[in-house]
Amino acid sequence: MSPAESRRASRGWWDADADAYQAEHGSFLGDVDFVWCPEGLREADAHLLGEVAGRRVLEIGCGAASCSRWLHKEGASVVAADLSAGMLRHARTGNTRSGVEVPLLQSDASALPFAEGVFDIVCTAFGAVPFVADSARVMREVHRVLRPGGRWAFSITHPMRWVFLDDPGEGGLVAVHSYFDRRAYVEEDERHVPTYVEQHRTLGDRIRELVGAGFVLTDLIEPEWPNGHEATWGQWSPLRGRIFPGTAIFIATKPA
Ligand SMILES: C[S@@+](CC[C@H](N)C(=O)[O-])C[C@H]1O[C@@H](n2cnc3c(N)ncnc32)[C@H](O)[C@@H]1O
Repeated sequence: MSPAESRRASRGWWDADADAYQAEHGSFLGDVDFVWCPEGLREADAHLLGEVAGRRVLEIGCGAASCSRWLHKEGASVVAADLSAGMLRHARTGNTRSGVEVPLLQSDASALPFAEGVFDIVCTAFGAVPFVADSARVMREVHRVLRPGGRWAFSITHPMRWVFLDDPGEGGLVAVHSYFDRRAYVEEDERHVPTYVEQHRTLGDRIRELVGAGFVLTDLIEPEWPNGHEATWGQWSPLRGRIFPGTAIFIATKPA
C-alpha cells in the first residue's frame, strides 16, 4: 500500500462516510467542544495542550472542527485542516450553526502548506495519523511547522486494540491478530481498489517516529473508561473499556 493509494482511499472514504460519521458521533462531539476520545476526556478538564489563549493552533484531521471551535472560544488563533471535503462540509455547517467561525483548510497532514515554525500547538483527536501510510512524515511535518518549544498532541486508537476484533461485546475480548503485524487493515471494492485503509504501529513505533522527527515525548495518556459512561458504538463499550485501554494520547514537545 503506497502513501498515494492510502491517501486516495482515505479521501474517498471520509468524503463518502462524512454524513454517517456525523450522524453517529456528532452529538457526542458537540459543535464547540474538545473531546479527545470515546472515553469522553475533554480538553477543558485535561489541559493537555497547556495554555491555549493567544496561541496559534493547527488542528489536523479536524473532521467537523468542533475542537477548533472550542479552541477559538478559549482565545486561540486556530486553523482547522482536513483531507476530506466531505468532512469539511460538516465543519462549515458547524461554523454556521454555532456562530463560531474558524478558518477551514483542505490539506493532507503529510504535506502541510505552512512555513516553518508558525504554530505554537498542533493537535488532533483521532484525525489523520491512523490513516496515513507514512506517519513518520506527518511527525516531521508537524515538527517543521511548530516553533521551538511548541507542543504536538494527538490521540489514536490504542495500539494494543489491534489484536482484538472490532466488537464491543465478549467477542472483542479475545486476542486474534498479532500486535507485531504492521500490515494495514484494508477494505476493497469489487475491482480490488482500496476504499478504506487503517494503519497499525506499535507503541514503540509511534515513539520512534516522534523521536526520529526531533520531538521529546513528555506524556502518554491512556484514559480510563469512566463509571456511568454507558455508550456503546463500533468497537467501544464499557465492557472493553473497563478491562484495557482504547485510546492513547501522545504529548510531545519540539525542543526549544
Ligand atoms: C476519525 S475522523 C476524526 C475527525 C475529528 N478529529 C473528530 O474527532 O471527530 C478522522 C479524520 O481524519 C481525516 N484524515 C484522514 N487522512 C488524512 C490525511 N492524510 N490528512 C488529513 N486528514 C486526514 C479524515 O478525513 C477524518 O476527518
